[in-house]
Amino acid sequence: MALGDAAGGTQYELGQTFARLVEEKSAGDIKVEMFPNGQLGSEQDTVNNANMGLVDLSVVAINNLTPFSPSVGVLTLPYVIHGPQDAKTLTHGKIGDELRDNTLRDAGIRILGWAYSGCRRLTNSKGPVASPEDLKGMVIRVPKNEIMISSYQAWGVNPNPLAWSETFTALQQGVVDGQDNPYITIDAMKFYEVQNHVTDSCYVFSLEPLIMGEGAFQDLSEANQTLVLDAAKEATAHSYDYLLATEDSIKKSLVEDHGMTITEPANDEKEWIAQASSIWPDFYDSIGGRDKLVEVLEVLGRDPA
Ligand code: MLT
Repeated sequence: MALGDAAGGTQYELGQTFARLVEEKSAGDIKVEMFPNGQLGSEQDTVNNANMGLVDLSVVAINNLTPFSPSVGVLTLPYVIHGPQDAKTLTHGKIGDELRDNTLRDAGIRILGWAYSGCRRLTNSKGPVASPEDLKGMVIRVPKNEIMISSYQAWGVNPNPLAWSETFTALQQGVVDGQDNPYITIDAMKFYEVQNHVTDSCYVFSLEPLIMGEGAFQDLSEANQTLVLDAAKEATAHSYDYLLATEDSIKKSLVEDHGMTITEPANDEKEWIAQASSIWPDFYDSIGGRDKLVEVLEVLGRDPA
């Protein structure tokens, strides 16, 4: 199993829970070996490699799956998912099933389960950022994801798209001034060593699917397929509980133990929301039409008008 993040954090927690359950349920017949820290390539590389049968499993941020399975982009549109409950609602039921089936069709990848990693928070090394104007003059790293690149452009920034595996070094060397990821990821990746400001915004919720190459899945016996799916379901439930149980204390520790300063977004995040949401129509075609977004908003109990 490839992991883009360091050990610790939500990817690792999901991965090791899944690994333990698979081993227990198969009475030791199936062992899952984990390779954290991007040892098996960038997250986008591991999606390709799972498709080609070069790795069996990977946990990747949803934004790094979107280039291979465009319809999952509906989950990375800015300000669609407001928090853990929305993320859980969308990954269960009809929407989640449809995204799983589309990903199998478009990328040859099976989504087995999900890590819930929390809202992506903007970090930087320059100063407090409360409004989009505060980003002027900063170079921000974004994943190689068109929706996220456009979101930053809507805030007046020309972002620098970089692979996740290159991000820490780019921050350390000052090639970029900032990036965004959830509190738990900021902590697991030790970004506090190279960033001192965090904005407590929530423009995208980081969902991280556990994926398996369909070839590897089909090579399993029917009984083992069931076992793997059951383990992933239980690990997904655990991931949600883990987020709720740990995010607040990790946020506190980033301030108290690692000296980060947290800035609240100005004006209830209204400028951030209005500017970023203006890009939604640019992505209707790739996510399967405006109706798909309307369906998602209705499932979340929002007024899609
Ligand atoms: C990214 O920023 O590329 C990913 O969200 C990182 C991650 O997988 O944690």
